[in-house]
Amino acid sequence: MDGDFIVLEDLEKVFHVRIRSGRLRRERREVRAVDGISFGVARGEMVGYIGPNGAGKSTTIKMLTGILTPSGGRLRVAGIDPARERTRLARRIGVVFGQRTTLWWDLPLRDSYALMRRMYRIPQARFRENLERCVELLELGDLLEVPVRQLSLGQRMRGDITAALLHDPDVLYLDEPTIGLDVVSKSTVRRFLSDLNASQGTTVLLTTHDLTDIEQLCKRVMVIDHGRLMYDGALAGLHEVGESERTLVVDLERELPPIEGIEGARTVRTEGPRQWLAFPASASAAPIVSRIADGYPLVDLSVREPAIEDVIARMYGAG
Ligand SMILES: Nc1ncnc2c1ncn2[C@@H]1O[C@H](COP(=O)(O)OP(=O)(O)OP(=O)(O)O)[C@@H](O)[C@H]1O
Ligand SMILES: [Mg+2]
Repeated sequence: MDGDFIVLEDLEKVFHVRIRSGRLRRERREVRAVDGISFGVARGEMVGYIGPNGAGKSTTIKMLTGILTPSGGRLRVAGIDPARERTRLARRIGVVFGQRTTLWWDLPLRDSYALMRRMYRIPQARFRENLERCVELLELGDLLEVPVRQLSLGQRMRGDITAALLHDPDVLYLDEPTIGLDVVSKSTVRRFLSDLNASQGTTVLLTTHDLTDIEQLCKRVMVIDHGRLMYDGALAGLHEVGESERTLVVDLERELPPIEGIEGARTVRTEGPRQWLAFPASASAAPIVSRIADGYPLVDLSVREPAIEDVIARMYGAG
């Protein structure tokens, strides 16, 4: 893990909030937003970071950028301690917070970008090259002269992603970059990120509530809940952890009573000659199919995979 590009060891963030408890009394309470998280991300990886509302995702990202100082644990990004060397780190990372813009509200995109060029002292040729690439791939050509306040959410998000990449960061943190976007904008953004990761080798940490983002972009996903890491691995592996089920859809010759006595499967629904049998996602369908074929007049069948949404929802529920 120490060889990794991003390293978190027992990372913690505790907030102290005052809450009213009674008419005059105020109580100090601890919120353990990040409660001992450890993981490493290798250079060039693209990792999903998901979890329910309030899980601690944004807090983690804010610590990874140096905006927030950890309450405990250790943190390194490109060998840099973010809280202690925030400015040095800023040259190596890009950040997109879907919920708010880093652009200047009253300025056209082009002017915002020019300001960033000076702030980050980006060489002119490099700046022009990066801007051109983003403008082309994110279809921003007609929007460069438009003040940010007049952009739609999807346009602004594409503008923000460009802003985060003008200085060639090694790492890109994306906190809900597709929130509120329509399907076309979402797929433009996804295609862009996938291309960025493949062609520039940019390390990407992606937070989202849209699991299609993860399915299409990330081989590895981390699930956090109540500030703790619940899962770290392949998206497919979530099925086993979440104890999800696949469904066998069986068409019989005629309407029959619910199929019974098939080991490892149970009938969950019938509709005329069609019946639905649930079985563990980790099990093979073959023995179940052959047992049904032995005892019932089988005409046709298909297997349905569990929706990843259901698996995650079950996991969040369990946590
Ligand atoms: N500045 C703060 N002061 C006090 N509590 C905070 C602060 N920022 C976050 N929290 C609390 O920390 C917890 C984690 O918040 P965080 O924003 O990291 O969640 P999240 O996983 O990003 O959720 P969401 O999916 O809703 O964006 C929440 O309970 C939140 O109320
Ligand atoms: Mg958040």
